[in-house]
Amino acid sequence: MKITPRKILLNPGPGTTSQGVKDALVVEDICPREKEFQEVMESLRRDLVKVVHQGKDYDCVMFAGSGTAVMDACINSVVPPGKKILIVNNGAYGTRLVSIAKAYGIEVEELNFDWDAPPSLEVLEKKLSSDENNAIDCIAMVHHETTTGLLNPVKEIGEIARRFGKTFIVDAISSYAAIPMEIEKLNIDYMLSTSNKCIQGMAGISFVIAKISALESAAKFPSRSYYLDLCEQYAYMKRTGQMTFTAPVQIVYALQQAVKEYFEEGAEKRRARYSENWETLYKGLSDLGFQFLLKPEYESKILLSVREPTHPDFDFDTLHDRLYAKGFTIYPGKIANTKTFRLAVIGDLRKQDMVEFVDALKTTLEEMGIDQQLYR
Ligand SMILES: Cc1ncc(COP(=O)(O)O)c(C=O)c1O
Repeated sequence: MKITPRKILLNPGPGTTSQGVKDALVVEDICPREKEFQEVMESLRRDLVKVVHQGKDYDCVMFAGSGTAVMDACINSVVPPGKKILIVNNGAYGTRLVSIAKAYGIEVEELNFDWDAPPSLEVLEKKLSSDENNAIDCIAMVHHETTTGLLNPVKEIGEIARRFGKTFIVDAISSYAAIPMEIEKLNIDYMLSTSNKCIQGMAGISFVIAKISALESAAKFPSRSYYLDLCEQYAYMKRTGQMTFTAPVQIVYALQQAVKEYFEEGAEKRRARYSENWETLYKGLSDLGFQFLLKPEYESKILLSVREPTHPDFDFDTLHDRLYAKGFTIYPGKIANTKTFRLAVIGDLRKQDMVEFVDALKTTLEEMGIDQQLYR
């Protein structure tokens, strides 16, 4: 069998994939309308629900598309006409949820918080208590803000959503399969994720793990989108086992293999592997003199936001290009007034990869003439 050269991707997905996932892409040609393919899809959907410890009350609705496709499908499909969505926003992906709702003319209550700390639960409760006409129907948030690496308090906000009787939508695009979660205990009605992040498949599929009773209620609302209609897609999948429109066949097989590898590894061990990767990076970069964006207690241990050195010879693009040539991909920041770059530890990566990365980073800084004093 051909072994594909391995690259260390420290961008927050698509991540480094295993050889097994790469091999699973090369399959016999098959029409996605065949029964054999439907069976693959149906068992894959069941397994994706099992990742968050659920069975009968939740189902998985899949789309061909990146993570943003299910952010769009969920927001446009589940907010009742004339009602509002409250979005807890402390990062670029929270802002994207707001933009999607606005694009459909859905009224948004935006709760904006600083990007380097968790949102205030008191402010959220106050907002909901002052909603006298019960205009707010849904609460949406991002679990792991990939902008910064901050882990938001999903359990606490889920508890508030339950108490106030709100539909609860969680973008878990970069935390699903990285952090063990029990969807029902977290009171989540809709959890969003994608094939190419912590489940470790290839890019091309995004999915919603949805509470069936919530989907059935939302099916009564008028449709706002033709392609990205969550309830239509669910109805079609339930009836036929297929996606309404052409499925990305090979990506489905790769995801099936990735899910198999997830269960072989186990939820706790995956979390422990990512944490070990992250801690190795944190220690290695601290020793080199780097500083970080977040307080340690807010870190997800899935991604590390590093403050860009202010040394006059530091240049992110040069660092990126030199590391890329050595087989390591790093990723720019996304924060307006603070210069950062990001290192994600997801994908088929281990401690040894992090050790080698830190070595390569040290050598590259030396090549760039940057001494130990990174910040001036
Ligand atoms: C938390 C979160 N939400 C949404 C997205 C958007 O996903 P995509 O870029 O696949 O459309 C990302 C991508 O990194 C993400 O990290």
